[in-house]
Amino acid sequence: MIDKLATLYNNVDVGKKTYIGPNTVVGLPKLSTIKRAEMENCNPDELTNPTIISEGCFIQPGAVIFEGTKIGNHSLIGSNVVIREENTIGDHTIIGSLSALEMGCVIGDYVTITTQVHITVEAVVENGCLFGAMVTTMNIRRPYYLVDPSLQKHTPPIFRKGCIIGCNATITPGVEIGYDAFVAAGAVVTKDVPPRKLVMGVPAKVVGDVPKDLYLEARLKTRKDRLSL
Ligand SMILES: CC(C)(COP(=O)(O)OP(=O)(O)OC[C@H]1O[C@@H](n2cnc3c(N)ncnc32)[C@H](O)[C@@H]1OP(=O)(O)O)[C@@H](O)C(=O)NCCC(=O)NCCS
Repeated sequence: MIDKLATLYNNVDVGKKTYIGPNTVVGLPKLSTIKRAEMENCNPDELTNPTIISEGCFIQPGAVIFEGTKIGNHSLIGSNVVIREENTIGDHTIIGSLSALEMGCVIGDYVTITTQVHITVEAVVENGCLFGAMVTTMNIRRPYYLVDPSLQKHTPPIFRKGCIIGCNATITPGVEIGYDAFVAAGAVVTKDVPPRKLVMGVPAKVVGDVPKDLYLEARLKTRKDRLSL
């Protein structure tokens, strides 16, 4: 069902049993599309890349989803989430209220991103990762592009399968968080985190092992809808 107060641009494909709430905007043209349309003297709607919201999704009020994004089956996009262009989001994934996904991220299946999380440009989040509230990620270590735009270089972080990122953690550019690793609340991660290790503090240091019952495999055993990840 698509609420009468939702705005769907051209080139948007909505799957069966998907709900799109009021004040949502789906398939919004990105800035470069608008500029191209100005030059070609046409409507930006004619130039947008396809946006796909698959079956059984729930798009809550106020979400804004730019063109070229693909969302898998049974995923939930919370209120006032902003999803920039060319993102790929898997099945059974939750993007919590007020979160922002920048351009070109790849988010897996069964990912839970809670409230007010910032996912930076081209970040990779593998299946089953969990982000606590207000996690911040980044991809430009030193902003030299401010003096010379040619020096702009994105090095997004990578989150491997099943890792858990505690509330308010800050993940600096280019780091890899290993599978089933656990970043404590408030940590500032400046280096790669080995798989299945707990890191804590500022800067984050390994302080121990993640208990086996927090591994993704164990977490899934508690879920009725567990599928092979
Ligand atoms: C890291 C964490 C898992 C540790 O939990 P725990 O194993 O039960 O540890 P404890 O609470 O017994 O604390 C052990 C010590 O670490 C300290 N500590 C706990 N969490 C800390 C954190 N996030 N940062 C710094 N120190 C921390 C405690 O103060 C204590 O110090 P002490 O030995 O000097 O007294 C937990 O505190 C945490 O950060 N969880 C994330 C919560 C979250 O963000 N949830 C939402 C998403 S899942």
